[in-house]
Amino acid sequence: MKILVTGGCGFIGSHTVVDLLNEGYEVIIVDNLVNSKIDVLDKIKKITNKSVKFYQYDLCDYTKLDSLFKEEEIDAVIHFAGLKAVSESVEKPLMYYENNLYSTINLLKCMMKYNVKKIVFSSSATVYGSPKSLPIYEDFPLSTTNPYGTTKLMIENILTDLYKADNSFDITILRYFNPIGAHKSGLLGEDPNGIPNNLMPYIVKVATHELPILSIFGDDYDTVDGTGVRDFIHVCDLSYGHVLALKNKKEGLKIYNLGTGQGTSVLELVKMFEKVNNVEVNYKIVGRRDGDIASCYASNKKAQEELGFKPKYNLEDMCRDSYNFVKSNR
Ligand code: NAD
Ligand code: UFG
Repeated sequence: MKILVTGGCGFIGSHTVVDLLNEGYEVIIVDNLVNSKIDVLDKIKKITNKSVKFYQYDLCDYTKLDSLFKEEEIDAVIHFAGLKAVSESVEKPLMYYENNLYSTINLLKCMMKYNVKKIVFSSSATVYGSPKSLPIYEDFPLSTTNPYGTTKLMIENILTDLYKADNSFDITILRYFNPIGAHKSGLLGEDPNGIPNNLMPYIVKVATHELPILSIFGDDYDTVDGTGVRDFIHVCDLSYGHVLALKNKKEGLKIYNLGTGQGTSVLELVKMFEKVNNVEVNYKIVGRRDGDIASCYASNKKAQEELGFKPKYNLEDMCRDSYNFVKSNR
């Protein structure tokens, strides 16, 4: 089975490509490298001993994408490509709407034209806005607080409308919680340019003294220790969820949360990171960050029951692997 992986050089995409190759799928990556590096392809080869075909195309370029679909007989698509920085999306909303929506519409148009009807889409827990209760179930009301999140919700709506119009489509929407960790080899992981927005990349840079101090955004939330609570999931558990989604026998339009179901506070994560890696993470408490919610964790019951999704890595693994990746690649 030939799988087109858009954004396959990125953080979650690259781990998923490794899983797909290990499971015997043929993989084609399309990525414009706007947020990733070409050497990821060599690393994937080093880990799996298998090659992938790579097209350095922008999905917003319909002509190129069409030529790819004409050339390759694709069976299914996993669609990771997109811009994902929340604060940047607030500053440059048009760039986010243009990139994330045009790319997806072009992709779906090609899928229609070449009769490729199976797609797995990367959505996000951000579509739940501020949840009414916890854990979060897939049928909770949806809302967003920033343009990035709105692109995810709009794409979910586009996919839903497409399915209504043509129910031969087989669509899986995966709502990720907070992926951290890295591949055990130390070759693949998250390596953002500049100052990270997300917690784990920031913690790692403080531990390696590339940044002086971590600011913890608020300690007055109604949580175990006052800091924000999130559902951190190892990227390798998350990536395997995509293999399960491809293998799923259930047809139609399906939506699953991919999280561990476990809430961990920011301070608990920092303490665990220090303990597991035997390092110090210098931190200070500052005011809340605009747009943050107190707590967010999944019910992954539906993914467990219908996909057989069962995360196997714990918080210690996530902290160890995140640090190992950065140490190995400095
Ligand atoms: P990433 O930035 O590491 O990977 C995305 C990849 O898409 C990059 O390699 C980038 O170069 C590519 N890309 C972007 N726009 C493109 C375009 N127009 N044409 C071709 N390639 C393009 O991000 P990630 O963390 O691996 O996330 C993958 C997906 O999962 C994204 O859609 C993201 O929004 C979603 N997601 C991520 C998280 C997270 O915390 N990492 C959480 C929820 C959802
Ligand atoms: N945090 C800090 N200091 C930092 C960075 C983060 O205290 O320097 C805190 C935040 O306030 C929050 C927690 O750490 O309480 C997690 O923050 P992240 O920025 O790592 O992640 P978010 O939960 O805000 O959002 C992430 C992605 C979104 C995605 C969401 C759900 O950035 O794109 O997870 O999947 F939608």
